Amino acid sequence: MTTPGRQMHLGVFVLGTGNHIAGWRYPGAAQSFEDLSVVQEIARIAERGKFDLIFLGDNLATEPGMHPSFAARFEPLTMLAALAATTTHVGLGATSSTTYNEPYNVARAFASLDHLSHGRAAWNAVTSSGGKAAENFGRIHPEHDARYEVAEEFVDVVRGLWDCWDDGAVVRNLETGQYIDPAKVRTLDHKGRFFQVKGPLPTSRTPQGQPIILQAGSSGPGLALAARTADVVFAVVQDLEEAKAGYVALKSRMPAFGRHGDEIAVLPGVMPVVGRTEAEAREKLNTLQGFVNTTNALSMLSSRLGQDVSRFPPDDLVTELPLPDSSHGFARAMLAKALRDRMTWRDLFNLTGAARGHWVICGTPETIADTLQQWFEERACDGFNILPAYFPGAFDDFVDMVVPILQERGLYRREYAGTTLRDHLGLARPRSRLFAS
Ligand SMILES: Cc1cc2nc3c(=O)[nH]c(=O)nc-3n(C[C@H](O)[C@H](O)[C@H](O)COP(=O)(O)O)c2cc1C
Repeated sequence: MTTPGRQMHLGVFVLGTGNHIAGWRYPGAAQSFEDLSVVQEIARIAERGKFDLIFLGDNLATEPGMHPSFAARFEPLTMLAALAATTTHVGLGATSSTTYNEPYNVARAFASLDHLSHGRAAWNAVTSSGGKAAENFGRIHPEHDARYEVAEEFVDVVRGLWDCWDDGAVVRNLETGQYIDPAKVRTLDHKGRFFQVKGPLPTSRTPQGQPIILQAGSSGPGLALAARTADVVFAVVQDLEEAKAGYVALKSRMPAFGRHGDEIAVLPGVMPVVGRTEAEAREKLNTLQGFVNTTNALSMLSSRLGQDVSRFPPDDLVTELPLPDSSHGFARAMLAKALRDRMTWRDLFNLTGAARGHWVICGTPETIADTLQQWFEERACDGFNILPAYFPGAFDDFVDMVVPILQERGLYRREYAGTTLRDHLGLARPRSRLFAS
């Protein structure tokens, strides 16, 4: 049953060459993630579809065999700063690692983006599961739980820095010549296990007060961090019952941190392949699959599972695999699905090629809307992170064919109710905790 007035939230996972590993080969598809005009077009479509946010991930190491948009991309905050100038409503989310950054730099960058965009910034706090980044920072990659210990403190420092300025601190009094009211700016004086940060930032309190925090970890420590600090969680799902269990598992952890379940929007990733008929949708997916380059797809699957899978005969059934520390939620969800559905390695490889381990739905606008509605109403999620297989066409299809059905059914906004990402998510603007008392 729907709670009256409960509305879906929608994000779009932006990869210029498409979320499908071979999306860029689809006729008419954009072929670069290093082209601002491609991402500007995606943002325009997102605003036409009244999306909550667009999301740019990041990786801190590259290899030629990766997904093309992972292999060659821009630093995401730089891209979002440019987009802030050409958009008016859609939230702007980007990844910054808690393992390979300083909290001061991250707090400052997202505070700046929040000002530049008039309240639309969102930080995806990730611990960086890929160990290759370490080689670019002269570091040894910390193990999984140690990364989360750092992340817990990192997020607190970032949020603390955002709280160092009270509203109204910049007074610009032309008569007295006072520019800043010193009573409204404080130091943080953080001295923790991993970070010592005095503060404040040289950036005043932002339009959202606290920019939005996104998270996507699904391990125990990942869920704990999300339950305590996240506003939006990107889930990796393949199955309705698993998604419902994951939703409850996350939300039931929140009261321990003094939070209500409604304070987090859980958005599973989904790649909708939309056709005017079932046959047309299936044909689109087959066309995309036909473009998959075996080497790239194998390397993507190996990277998701944290081990070389080319050693398995493709037509053998997938068997239980010990997953290394570096594997993440995708690996667990994909392996569980492969074992449940008795997939061969080739089937799993095709699944990965299609959506990098995310859930794929293929059908008409109505059948896709039906599925999304069922997941939303049965509380498997609070909305979706849409992963168009290619841009702009597959995103246009979703926005022009599926979104209107969700709107007609009263499940999704027809207009933005406010201008900030907090407004779209229905989250109040917080007062600085340093000044609230
Ligand atoms: C939608 C989505 C987006 C993600 N974006 C990034 C990213 O941009 N960079 C990154 O290093 N990890 C990214 N991840 C990986 C997760 O944030 C997380 O680090 C990983 O799942 C391991 O955490 P866990 O062990 O708690 O599951 C993403 C995951 C999902 C589901």
